[in-house]
Amino acid sequence: MDRLRLGVNIDHVATLRNARGGVHPDPVSAALLAQKAGADGITMHLREDRRHIRDNDIFAVKQAIHIPLNFEMAATDEMVSIAEKLRPNAACIVPEKREELTTEGGLAVAGAEARLSPLIDRLKQADIRVSLFVDADEAELQASAAIGADIVELHTGSYCDAATTEQREHELSRIVTGASIASHLGLEVHAGHGLSFDNVGNIAEIPEIVELNIGHFLMGVAIFTGLDEAIISMRSLMEKARQS
Ligand code: PXP
Repeated sequence: MDRLRLGVNIDHVATLRNARGGVHPDPVSAALLAQKAGADGITMHLREDRRHIRDNDIFAVKQAIHIPLNFEMAATDEMVSIAEKLRPNAACIVPEKREELTTEGGLAVAGAEARLSPLIDRLKQADIRVSLFVDADEAELQASAAIGADIVELHTGSYCDAATTEQREHELSRIVTGASIASHLGLEVHAGHGLSFDNVGNIAEIPEIVELNIGHFLMGVAIFTGLDEAIISMRSLMEKARQS
């Protein structure tokens, strides 16, 4: 089984910084600490409203780290132009509505090919791997492969937020099936959203998934135990699940 990589999303370091409008805590320091603690990549979402990460943050982090940068972005010309300058390892296209608290639901790829295709082509021409953040639905996975994505990141939000055991099992089985379909379509499979110490194990066990992107929970734990310990604990749970 492929080693499971952990991408650490540091958006909420910037959320905390922006709450006071100053320079602390610094996302670059967080990225370097995450790298030292065993993160395999850094993920940052430059939202259209710049509510947390700002333009200079992504360029400063890209320059400071030696692990891959996964740039989360909306499907807009503005964001593609920034990606072309930034040259991250991967660009993950996510749906974005200004009023939402976080990324709710996956990107609608099926039916949006005409709008997404030119943006994806530009990213690929800039040698950026293209990832699409989608729900684990066969139609979305088929459309993602057909449109030329390299990677799909399966949205784990419904699994993480499930109110009952039955619902959680149903959502988990959708992700298991989706990971298998995506892999058969030749897509690299990632997963993320809402993952925590309690729910990461079942996702980490899915053999086709090679990367998890985790942010909010890690930052919350970091307040109590430090970011390095939060990352080391998450990595160890991921590895334990992978071996089981
Ligand atoms: N993956 C994607 C594509 C996301 O949009 C997010 C949230 O920004 C995450 C992973 C991380 O989610 P969380 O902060 O809930 O761990």
